[in-house]
Amino acid sequence: RLADLKGLKSGRFRLAVITTAKYFAPEILGGFCERYPGIDVSLKVTNRTRIIERMEANDDDLYIFGEPANAGIEVEATYLAPNPLIIVARADHPLARKPRISMECLARERFILREPGSGIRDSVIHRFAESGLQPNVRMELGSNEAIKHAIIAGLGISALSLHSLTLDWGAGRLAMLDVEGFPIERAWYLVHPKGRELSTIAKTFLAYAVDREPDIRAMLARTFAALRTPTGSTS
Ligand code: PGA
Repeated sequence: RLADLKGLKSGRFRLAVITTAKYFAPEILGGFCERYPGIDVSLKVTNRTRIIERMEANDDDLYIFGEPANAGIEVEATYLAPNPLIIVARADHPLARKPRISMECLARERFILREPGSGIRDSVIHRFAESGLQPNVRMELGSNEAIKHAIIAGLGISALSLHSLTLDWGAGRLAMLDVEGFPIERAWYLVHPKGRELSTIAKTFLAYAVDREPDIRAMLARTFAALRTPTGSTS
């Protein structure tokens, strides 16, 4: 017990997360550092494929990503929070006011797709394939932030995690489309390789993060409500 407490007074904690968790992981780390100020933390943000490679190489203490059962290696995973995937267009897009848009209609739109290795890319392609369709890819982009800019620049529509819109980014210039089969309900998990003993710090962080779930959920609910009524909409 004394040793445990000592272990939390100083030490290192390395967290690696998929791109969409960067919209919340810093908040969790911030609160954790306030409670345990002696701990040095680091945060790595990259796509799903790279995260799994890092886990195989034992580069970090803990990981946040989705679908841990399909990681390709045996892991222990703890549910953290929802991570819904939505379709986003510029607010003045004609589909922005349409209810129940079909996948066929979506397939005709110019689509901005994430890079190979991205979990979002895989989810999107899978959703199209379920309807026997493919996205009409206008361009590929390796960043959620660049995708938001590209949507606003009129380059097309895309799929984004609701988390990427939680800071009111785009203030009324982006709209969530009401597409059949969306949002895709996904989730984040706290993950580490099976059989690898977590450090005291990592265990403490895990418990701390799990307790933040209601905050994450509340933030998502606020963002969802705001996106349903885009600024400037009269209907
Ligand atoms: P990605 O993962 O960065 O690999 O697309 C993000 C997510 O699945 O939410």
